[in-house]
Order: sequence, then structure tokens, then C-alpha cells
Amino acid sequence: MPQRAGPETSRTKERPWFHSSIGETLTPTGRELFEKYSKIPPAEVDDHLYKARDFAWDIFPWPCVGEFWFVHFGLSLHPQYPALLARLTSPTNPSPPRLLDLGTCLGQDLRKLVFDGVPAEQLYGSDIFSDFEQAGTMLFRDEEKFAGHFIAADLLVEDADDSLGALVKTEETWDVVSALMFLHIWDYKNQVAACKRILKLLKPEKGSLLIGASTGSVKPGEEWYKPPLVPQERSIYRHSNETFVQMWNEIEEDLGIRVKVECTYDDEGERAARLKEEEGKGKGHFFKGGDQRRLYFSVELL
Ligand SMILES: C[S@@+](CC[C@H](N)C(=O)[O-])C[C@H]1O[C@@H](n2cnc3c(N)ncnc32)[C@H](O)[C@@H]1O
Repeated sequence: MPQRAGPETSRTKERPWFHSSIGETLTPTGRELFEKYSKIPPAEVDDHLYKARDFAWDIFPWPCVGEFWFVHFGLSLHPQYPALLARLTSPTNPSPPRLLDLGTCLGQDLRKLVFDGVPAEQLYGSDIFSDFEQAGTMLFRDEEKFAGHFIAADLLVEDADDSLGALVKTEETWDVVSALMFLHIWDYKNQVAACKRILKLLKPEKGSLLIGASTGSVKPGEEWYKPPLVPQERSIYRHSNETFVQMWNEIEEDLGIRVKVECTYDDEGERAARLKEEEGKGKGHFFKGGDQRRLYFSVELL
């Protein structure tokens, strides 16, 4: 039985973002990874995904779990994914770069990197819920590759002695930090705090990189969510491309550093596919509406 946070009622499968059918979410590219990397017999893939998803939902009912977002392998959709792969696999690099995936949850982006040729030794994932490690190895059937590569920690904890302070000991060691569908879980103030923590984790040198995606909106601002949509009333800040860059400008000024920020929306094709997927399942997503965009961003130290 996994550790459980929040009230039992938060696991209800009545949530709009708990999809009882995977529908068209699993594309041939996603299926290929489960068949070839995880070696799941083709006829068993769907059943396996439902079981692993339900196990993860029991740990915490995140929309990315309920909606099967994890089978999209979000990092691989980033426009800079090919450049990231080249960096992580470059044979000329004497000390291979290490990547930390923050809010890794099921660790799907790490598995996709391995499937695409990056040695697992260079890849680590971190999440506030330690049981996602087990959920990830259950989903991908690869305990031998990723044992010891999961760091249970709260990004915002700055005390190394705290039970969730394990990331503090890794400060200034990471070449790349990835953060998929992660920063958008906070309001503006806490997103700034999270970004500052990420800067502490990265090696303090030119070229260190944060790469990721968040759900945003062309009409940026704080949005309030109330129970039963979320366990506790909370606001989250949804960025536009412009406000994301502005936030980083404020951080630069505050810390006296220089970064290169790139931010782009998902293209029409990706958006249309998402709407079609939603209609096909007759179910909603946590974030929806015509103003919604997925932001793909990168922040590089100068
Ligand atoms: C919306 S999910 C995204 C998961 C994954 N990156 C993806 O794209 O599917 C956010 C993840 O961040 C984790 N998380 C939330 N707060 C955190 C914190 N303070 N420190 C570290 N991880 C946290 C959650 O447990 C969850 O797995």
C-alpha cells in the first residue's frame, strides 16, 4: 500500500480528469516504448497501463496521472528535445552531463531519454512522493536500470537535515534540470521560489540549463481552484509566453544573474489533437478552454 497524502475522498474516480478509457492518448510512438523498452506483450499494454495508472492515482490524484498525460512523454515534444539528446549523448564530452527531472512522478521522461540513447547513469528523478519511484518501475518494468536514481524530496525545502531535504546536498551539481508540468502547480510567488531553488541546483556556470513545459494561457493570471476540484483551496498562476519571460527578468534582476529564456506555445496541431482526444473520451482535462496553451520553455545560464 503506497503512502497516501490528502484526504481519502481526493482519490475519487469521479474527477473530470480521471479518464476511464485511454482512448487515443496512447500513440504508436508511446506504444512502441512500452513494447520494446518495457517488453510488455502488445496485447497486454492497455491493461498494464490501466493498472499502473490506478496504482499511481492511489498515491496522489494528479491530473497528469488521471489523464494518462504520462504516455505522451512530454519532454520529447519539446522543440529543443533533439538538441538536449545531442548534448546528453555527445561522445566528445569528457564528463557526461547529468540531468535531474523535477516532479518526475512516474519518470516517463527519463525512460524516453534512455530509449532514445542516453545512459541511465546520467539521469535522476525527484518527487515529493517517494512511492512514485515504485509506481514508475512498476509501469516501466526496469528496476535494475533506475535503482538509486530517485530522490524523494521537496524542492522548496532548504534544510539538508529535513526528511524531504535530500536535494540540498546536490546543489550546484546538475548540468540540466527538466521540469515538466511542474512549475504550474504553484501561485506566482511560489513559482519564483521554485525557480530560485532550481538555479541553486544547477552548476553555476554558462550553459547550465532548465528545460520544461507548463500549462499556460494567452490570458495569464492567478486561477483559484476549490474543493472538490482540489483537496484544498489554492491558486495557481498560468503564464503566457510574455509573463514567463518577465518572471525570469525579475529573477535575473533580483539575483544579479543573466539567463537566456526561450518560451513558445504548443502548435495548432498539438492543440487540435488534444481537443480531439478530449472529445473522444467525453471527459474533461484539469486545464481546458480556448485560451489554454502548453508553454515549452528553456532557461540557460549565461
Ligand atoms: C503535475 S505532476 C507532473 C509530473 C510529471 N513531470 C509529468 O509531466 O507527468 C507534478 C509532480 O510534482 C510533484 N511535486 C509537487 N510538489 C512538489 C515539491 N514541492 N517538490 C517536488 N516535487 C513536487 C508531484 O508529486 C507530481 O508528481
